[in-house]
Amino acid sequence: MLGKNAKIFFLGSVCLLIASIILAAWGFPKIVGLQIQKSVQIENSSLMFEKWRKLPMPLTFNVYLFNVTNVQDINSGMKPLLQEVGPFVYKEYRERTILGYGENDTVRYTLKKTFVFDKEASGNLTDDVELTVINYPYMAAILTANSIMPSIVGLLNSAMGPFFSSEQDPFLKVRVNQLLFDGVYLNCSRNSSALALICGKLKADKPPTMRLAEDRSGFYFSMFAHMNNTDIGPFEMNRGVEDVRQLGHITSFQDMTVMNQWGDPYCGMINGSDATIFPPIDEKNVPNRLYIYEPEICRSIFASLVDQRVMFNMTTYYYEVDKMALASKSANPDNKCFCDKNWSSNHDGCLMMGLINLKPCKNAPVIGSFPHFHLASEELLNYFAGGIKPDPEKHNSFVYLEPTTGVVLKGFQRLQFNIELRQIPMIPQLENVTSGLFPLMWVEEGATIPDDLLEELQDSRRLLDYVETARWMLLVIATFSCIIAAVCVVRSTGAHVWPRRSDFHLRPGNTIVVNKSR
Ligand SMILES: *[C@@H]1O[C@H](CO)[C@@H](O)[C@H](O)[C@H]1NC(C)=O
Ligand SMILES: *[C@@H]1O[C@H](CO)[C@@H](O)[C@H](O)[C@H]1NC(C)=O
Ligand SMILES: *[C@@H]1O[C@H](CO)[C@@H](O)[C@H](O)[C@H]1NC(C)=O
Ligand SMILES: *[C@@H]1O[C@H](CO)[C@@H](O)[C@H](O)[C@H]1NC(C)=O
Ligand SMILES: *[C@@H]1O[C@H](CO)[C@@H](O)[C@H](O)[C@H]1NC(C)=O
Ligand SMILES: *[C@@H]1O[C@H](CO)[C@@H](O)[C@H](O)[C@H]1NC(C)=O
Ligand SMILES: *[C@@H]1O[C@H](CO)[C@@H](O)[C@H](O)[C@H]1NC(C)=O
Ligand SMILES: *[C@@H]1O[C@H](CO)[C@@H](O)[C@H](O)[C@H]1NC(C)=O
Ligand SMILES: *[C@@H]1O[C@H](CO)[C@@H](O)[C@H](O)[C@H]1NC(C)=O
Ligand SMILES: *[C@@H]1O[C@H](CO)[C@@H](O)[C@H](O)[C@H]1NC(C)=O
Ligand SMILES: *[C@@H]1O[C@H](CO)[C@@H](O)[C@H](O)[C@H]1NC(C)=O
Repeated sequence: MLGKNAKIFFLGSVCLLIASIILAAWGFPKIVGLQIQKSVQIENSSLMFEKWRKLPMPLTFNVYLFNVTNVQDINSGMKPLLQEVGPFVYKEYRERTILGYGENDTVRYTLKKTFVFDKEASGNLTDDVELTVINYPYMAAILTANSIMPSIVGLLNSAMGPFFSSEQDPFLKVRVNQLLFDGVYLNCSRNSSALALICGKLKADKPPTMRLAEDRSGFYFSMFAHMNNTDIGPFEMNRGVEDVRQLGHITSFQDMTVMNQWGDPYCGMINGSDATIFPPIDEKNVPNRLYIYEPEICRSIFASLVDQRVMFNMTTYYYEVDKMALASKSANPDNKCFCDKNWSSNHDGCLMMGLINLKPCKNAPVIGSFPHFHLASEELLNYFAGGIKPDPEKHNSFVYLEPTTGVVLKGFQRLQFNIELRQIPMIPQLENVTSGLFPLMWVEEGATIPDDLLEELQDSRRLLDYVETARWMLLVIATFSCIIAAVCVVRSTGAHVWPRRSDFHLRPGNTIVVNKSR
């Protein structure tokens, strides 16, 4: 009687053991993987969908401006002495409008960013502080004129007097909110053919920073008004439903799969995501590079894996944008297509280490770099008497990724806008200055995961830990019952493998008294 029961018990246990081995080795990881994919994919029933469509918290958009403190000295040829003023903190809300679903598992949407000045976070800085900065629109106009019609640049310059409300030098006294969003008015309505030429060129080029006044009598210049409350796109992005590794990958922007600004299919490649969404990381195959596509600079850029770091008690992967991203042509030949071939006849248009010519992207001679020329050629620093001090901690771009979900725990993108201050003998304001690359401002955009989202993430991580524990518990229980059943079978059939009276020691201190069961 007992023998038969023991055999059934044994058979059952073996089945349980096999089942739990299969579950532990294959079933659980598969189920967990599917569960994670279900929650991160962009599908209107998924956990992530609403958070993706409308970011539950604003990003931080910080602006640091370079106040010029020695205008007179610079005008007479001395080195600029700058003073960084900031951060002017803005909250950046992001909302997407879904336009539809495309072939190949894509979603089509537009993205709207809204910026709101955050008085509290800006501390004692208000956005109506008046600063002296490089006159970016003036230098842009002069440099553009100088490149297309160098012979009449002097004439154009004198015509521009009223345009900038009688400028005596290439610097602009401006309130921060005017420079960033509200706009500096540039008056086109004076009766002058030279001015008409400039205004006509602006109307044709449509640089994003120049907004035509409603009565078309002039322009408002501002750095970011074109980004505020405007639909950007349409984007097409992979939803990760068919292949979660493709999640977030942008496949087209404004119906183009390659950006044509650079006139080169390699530099125009659209790679990666918009830096707010990444696929879960496959721990066996951790990517060395994360690609990010940034329409504001018309290009993709990558961050390289540095190491694993603990953040909020979670192991994360830390990626940083390194110097290869903006490397000069000699250091990274891949970057040669970012050179501006039409820069001038005696120049291949390639810039120094750490710079990118954004002219093809912005339709204005603006040059991008990391803040304070971080990771750029040190030569650039010699131009300044002070105020420029690269610091990797403050000026790098990075992301901390939680691997199981691909959620960004903390990430910041940083970029500086510069323009050339050039000595031009024909222009009185510029006849004595020393030529060099002059910074206007730098911005950082990013966020740290807020507490409520962090808790949600930690809860699901904890759940995963329980599942993981359950997986091994099941295996252990199945193994134990198999062993016990085997012993019972052996006992009941009378085959004395072990001496009758001894105890069966599984582990020191953990004695199962098999004898008593008889
Ligand atoms: C959810 O998405 C599908 C496409 O995947 C769409 O057909 C459906 O209408 C959406 N449902 C809702 C409630 O938006
Ligand atoms: C900016 O620089 C000017 C000198 O050019 C100085 O008078 C002013 O106080 C500075 N502004 C701030 C906010 O530091
Ligand atoms: C979808 O993928 C196929 C094969 O990769 C490609 O031929 C097709 O053009 C893609 N469709 C779209 C809309 O991108
Ligand atoms: C951005 O646009 C919104 C809506 O038009 C406006 O309320 C807000 O003040 C703007 N932000 C800034 C910084 O001007
Ligand atoms: C703001 O406060 C800091 C110290 O907290 C001070 O160094 C700085 O000068 C102040 N700025 C202005 C514009 O008052
Ligand atoms: C622009 O200049 C014209 C002529 O000098 C003047 O009549 C007009 O008021 C100016 N517009 C603004 C907005 O200042
Ligand atoms: C502009 O100036 C020209 C001559 O310099 C004159 O003939 C024309 O009437 C002026 N136009 C206006 C709108 O003032
Ligand atoms: C785009 O990604 C591919 C690999 O996926 C890489 O080889 C290429 O260099 C990237 N292009 C740019 C412009 O970063
Ligand atoms: C990290 O974990 C330790 C112990 O488990 C705990 O004391 C600490 O508060 C945790 N820190 C955070 C930021 O959650
Ligand atoms: C360079 O200039 C030539 C004519 O001046 C023009 O045809 C060509 O498109 C320009 N190339 C770029 C990349 O801007
Ligand atoms: C530039 O230098 C020359 C010679 O020193 C001087 O005559 C001229 O006034 C200076 N111009 C400016 C705008 O300071």
